[in-house]
Amino acid sequence: MRRLNLFSIASLTALLTLAASCSQEASMQAEAQTPAPTNEPASFVSASAYSRYVDDEGNISLPKDIAMDWAHMGSWAVAKDGGVEGLHNVYAPKEDIEHFRSTGDFADGAIMVKEVRTARGAAHTTGDAHWAEDIQVWFIMVKDTQGRFTDNPLWGDGWGWALYEGKDTTKQVATDYKKDCLGCHIPAKDTDWTYVYGYPALGADVAQFAPQDVEAASAAAAAMTSMAADASGDAMAGEEVFARCASCHSLTPGQHSVGPSLAGFVGRKAGAAEGYNYSSAMAASDVVWSAETLDTHLADVPGFIPGNRMATFFPGGVQDPEERANLVAYLMEAGK
Ligand code: HEC
Ligand code: HEC
Repeated sequence: MRRLNLFSIASLTALLTLAASCSQEASMQAEAQTPAPTNEPASFVSASAYSRYVDDEGNISLPKDIAMDWAHMGSWAVAKDGGVEGLHNVYAPKEDIEHFRSTGDFADGAIMVKEVRTARGAAHTTGDAHWAEDIQVWFIMVKDTQGRFTDNPLWGDGWGWALYEGKDTTKQVATDYKKDCLGCHIPAKDTDWTYVYGYPALGADVAQFAPQDVEAASAAAAAMTSMAADASGDAMAGEEVFARCASCHSLTPGQHSVGPSLAGFVGRKAGAAEGYNYSSAMAASDVVWSAETLDTHLADVPGFIPGNRMATFFPGGVQDPEERANLVAYLMEAGK
């Protein structure tokens, strides 16, 4: 049976229930052999042999009732202006968590859902306590150890990636995981692209992966916000500003000159283009290139990454804020 048919499971369950009314003993035996489905997909997708939440084309469905049926892995409180702006609750099926706890890896087909809710706070007997309100979005990752769905732009780097919005749960809205997801997950690349240290349910070992110092944490934070930040500049005008950089930087992959090629630098750690000999200051930096970090670097070339070699050649950077915004907007596209 290649395709797992949910309807046949449903009718099987109905049969079992029927059997239960005949003989309790018989039904207990049958239940032990046939695990009942724990959770139905809420959306359009039919199951495949690989996963009940993924169809044969790689479409990922939105599982429903996860807070009732799955285990809570952990939560993130996102601070803003001294309060809590959002609460992110992450859930997974219990068996996927058990597999991680015993092996340290996510099993093929393991699924995680991050539910993003707004938060509201008020004085409580515990202090200024915030609680979760409306669902904004659900982020979903499905582990794929086999490199399936190579033609589907929502699959790659060992996962299937999906996004549903609270206002319409029938439509998956992400289009390309490299654009919509990956850049923000780069700080977690070494732990299979997931922020495992945020999930106590995965066991005590994950704590070792937490950011060790403030610098690393803020570099990660810069990478996250950059994806969310709107590039407000005018990319067309920015292309003209790039003429000042072009004497030292090409946009052709691997074509290094005085400076490294800027092909694909967006979302990458500073000092990491292959084949270019960086200063030790840049090579050792925790900075991840985003709209924000690039803007800061160009406003203060000597100061942002102290000791970097661009400061020797081009210390002035780009001082005019509008020119800088346009250049950043251009490079967020051209340097992808
Ligand atoms: C703005 C940056 C950003 C973007 C864009 C982003 N993520 Fe995340 N994601 C994070 C961060 C940071 C966490 C953990 C901390 C948190 O939620 O605040 C996370 C956590 C998750 C989790 C929980 C498991 C884990 O990896 O820790 C899932 C699932 C997830 N993201 C999926 C996605 C998918 C799918 C996309 C694209 C459709 C995406 N994310 C886009 C930053 C981002
Ligand atoms: C006169 C040469 C020169 C000019 C002009 C110049 N840079 Fe650089 N740039 C460098 C050098 C050299 C490095 C490598 C620094 C190091 O290794 O410390 C560098 C590094 C960088 C990096 C880091 C890349 C990486 O892989 O981490 C970025 C981003 C960058 N430059 C952007 C720009 C932008 C944008 C401009 C135009 C406003 C510009 N640079 C103009 C010489 C220059």
